[in-house]
Formats: sequence, structure tokens, C-alpha cells
Amino acid sequence: MDKADIGMIGMEVMGRSLALNIESRGYTVAVFNRTESKTRNFAEGPAKGKNFIPCYELQNFVKSLKSPRKIMLMVKEGAPVDGFIEKLVPLLDRGDLIIDGGNSFFKDTIRRNSELTEKGIFFIGTGVSGGEEGALKGPAIMPGGQPEAYKLVEKIFSDISAKAQDGEPCVTYIGPNGAGHFVKTTHNGIEYGDMQLIGECVWVLKKTGMNAEEIASTMEQWNGGNDILRSYLIEITADSMKEKKKEGEGYLVDVVADITRMKGTGTWTVQSAMELLVPIPTIAAAVFSREMSQDKDLRLQMAKILKTPEGKKLRESKKKLMDIAHDALYIAKISSYAQGFALLQAASKKYGFDLKLGQIAKIWRGGCIIRAQFLDEITKAYEENPELPNLLASPKFSGFVNENLWKLAKFIDIAHRSGVPVLGMASSYDYILQIACPVMVSAQVAAFQRDYFGAHGYFKIGGEGQPEIVKDPEGKIREFHIEWMVDGRPEKEITR
Ligand code: 3PG
Repeated sequence: MDKADIGMIGMEVMGRSLALNIESRGYTVAVFNRTESKTRNFAEGPAKGKNFIPCYELQNFVKSLKSPRKIMLMVKEGAPVDGFIEKLVPLLDRGDLIIDGGNSFFKDTIRRNSELTEKGIFFIGTGVSGGEEGALKGPAIMPGGQPEAYKLVEKIFSDISAKAQDGEPCVTYIGPNGAGHFVKTTHNGIEYGDMQLIGECVWVLKKTGMNAEEIASTMEQWNGGNDILRSYLIEITADSMKEKKKEGEGYLVDVVADITRMKGTGTWTVQSAMELLVPIPTIAAAVFSREMSQDKDLRLQMAKILKTPEGKKLRESKKKLMDIAHDALYIAKISSYAQGFALLQAASKKYGFDLKLGQIAKIWRGGCIIRAQFLDEITKAYEENPELPNLLASPKFSGFVNENLWKLAKFIDIAHRSGVPVLGMASSYDYILQIACPVMVSAQVAAFQRDYFGAHGYFKIGGEGQPEIVKDPEGKIREFHIEWMVDGRPEKEITR
């Protein structure tokens, strides 16, 4: 057999599915796994009779590849990635390429990129989203690394990627170094936000007395035609909620334990946001909510101690509530994406990723877990104005928000009255209130408190109707401090 076009290391579900996808587009794929039996099972199972070169030694694997060699790692992030890189490097030539397709931490990718560049080996860290089905049939791919490295796999990636409704491949060069993995991590953070918001909606709908099937059919409506909520996550929520118990009466979802586990990308998103000073409260709320879900023992204990309005019956009709929930969910989603894209924007600046936000929204339109009708709107918003200060500033979204924000407020009120915690919805709502607020009284108070207890100084605004910061004629912000313990509490201007 001829040499392989690309090599795949890691025969777990994502590696296997991607390898099958690549082969199905006319490429020969060499495969390797640390545990030999996994390669053998693959070779004798789904790969049988197809253009695969199963390899049982790393040396043979490397030798079986066309030059420049392209090797994709689909192994667990962290030490396994470093371990394979270490073993591969002595076997490779300058100009060969290693691709890490796992969910790696972007700072690890930056480090690996610089270590391998010193050795003359190209490195791409790429996000691959879409789960098993996406990997097999067409994922969204988010590659970051040297542009010349990307050229080496551009055709393969484009061939195997999902195609959006207009036929465009869901892959684009994201940027240098860790850009691809940063974008994938943020994608996952946004995914956590979406899942949280949908879950809160289901919870409130359940409070109206709707059963799982009725909620599923509501979600099916939301996923129909050109509905603004149409998305993969709404689709699978509807489909999964209809699942009946395997034994006995009722729906399976009602006996699924209320514990959401996580692998870490949502937490990384929040940590990065903290580091970059970008508020992403909806995504953070989604992570916190997952954390609270995991402490089941504590919740069971606390439920016996605290009285929450759990049993309150809702006043609103199902029909009215469904309409409110629909638009509330859409606005909460806009807010959450505005936060996620603000994070991308800040990271782009800080790490020199030069991210094209419109392009990112474009490749998320298909293949990935957050794929949605709505991403088309985000793409257009950034095409119309690539310099948008925040996604909520786009007339595409601000119009809807201005007209319907009351529904999100109403939804939160209904939820709270009936004892449903809505950490995500409330965070989305408050993000909008706070970002559009010319004077934050809470911040005025805190600035004053800091000056009082720590002599930290404060700035001033013009006064009533003049929310701008007071500056000197040279444009420098003027800073003040009050001598709180001195008689008459004199105010002094601080010069630093
Ligand atoms: C994945 O990578 O499998 C998901 O996108 C996110 O995973 P998690 O919910 O297990 O963290």
C-alpha cells in the first residue's frame, strides 16, 4: 500500500471517528494507539477493507507517512499529549507537522508550539467540536498555529469538516499559537451557558405542570422553521426528553440524577475571563450551577433546613409562559454570546491571536455542539461592523433586546416566585442592565468605601446628567481622596 496522507494517534471514540471521516474522503490514514488491542480492534472492525495502515510501533507509524508528515493526536489533554510529542520528535524531520486535536489548555499549546518551532517542527492546536457524530460526519474545526502549517492540512480539514447550510466548510485558520484551542475552550464555555439556559427554561416549564413530552414538543416548535432558537442543543433536548423509562411508566429524564459533571473547559473559560478581566457571568453561572449540582448530599441536607417557595403554583397560563420563556431564552442567549465574544476579543488583543470574530461565528454554524440559526445572525453582525464594541451593540440584537427585555425580567420573576433558581438567566439579564448603565451606583459606593478604609482614592463624574469621568485639560483622569479622620474631612486631589 502507498504511504498514508495523514497519521492518527489515539483510537478512542473521537480519534476513530475522525480517522474514518478522513478515509471516507479519499485519504489513506495510518493509525496508532498506545494499547495495541485498540488499533487491532479498529483494524479488524470498522477499518476493515478500507484505506488504513494500522501500526503497532511508533517508528513504523512514522515511516508509513508521506512527507512532510502530518500526525494528528487525539489523546487526553495534558501529559499524554506531551508524552507523544516527546516520543515523536526524534522520529520526525524538519517541516513535519504535529496536530493536537484534543481539548488542550491554550497555554500548553503556546508552549508546545514554541518548543517544536525551535526544533523545526510545525504544530497546530485545533479544536474539534461535534462529538462522535460530528467527528465522523463533519465537525467544526478550529485550527491555530503557523499559517504555513495550516496550509499543509487545509484541504484535508476542509474536506472532513461540516458544511453550513450555504455549503461553506466549518473550518478556517483561527490564528497563531494557542488561538485554536482558546477559541474551542470559549466555544465550550458558551456551550455550558446554552445548556444552563435551556435547563432553566425546562425547569420553569415543568413548574406549569407540563410533562416531559409536552416540554419536548414545545422545544420541537422552538426548533422548527426559521425560529430564532433553532439549534442543535434545542433539538437534542426535545429528542432526549421524549425518551420513556426503560422499565415502568413515565419519562427517563425525570429519573436522571441531577448531577452535571464536566471535564474542565468551562472552568478554563471562566479562569481566562478572570485573567483578562472580562465579565462572563452567564458562563460562570453555568459552571457554578454544575458545581452545585454535584454536591447532592449538601443540597439534600439544606433542603430540610431552608424554606424556599418550592411549592408555589404559577399564575401564568402555559401559553403565556411559553411565549415569555421563548423570548427570554433568546435574549439570555444573546447576552451569553455577547460575553463569550467579548472574551475572544480580549484574548485576541492580549495574546496577539488576531481573531476574526465573524469568521468564528461562521464556522460555528455547522458541525459543532452550539450550531444554531442564531450564529448566522452573529456572522452578519460582525460582517456589517467588525469593530462592534460588544455584540449587544449590533442593531441585529439591540432592537429585539430593547423590545423584549421585560420578558426576561418577567421570566426571572416567575422562576423566583416558584422557587426555580435561574443563575444563568439572571446573570444574562444583569449583564445587560449593567453594561448599559451609565452610572453604576454600586461602584460609586465601593469606590468611596475603598477610599474610606484604605485611602485608595476615587475619580469623579460631572454630576447629574453628566456621567463622564472628570479629566484635566490634558485629558488625564483627575483623582481625589478625602482625609476621613481629619476635622472637616477635606478633599485633596491626588497626583501620582
Ligand atoms: C466535550 O468536549 O465533550 C464537551 O464539549 C464539553 O464537555 P463537558 O461538558 O464534559 O465539560
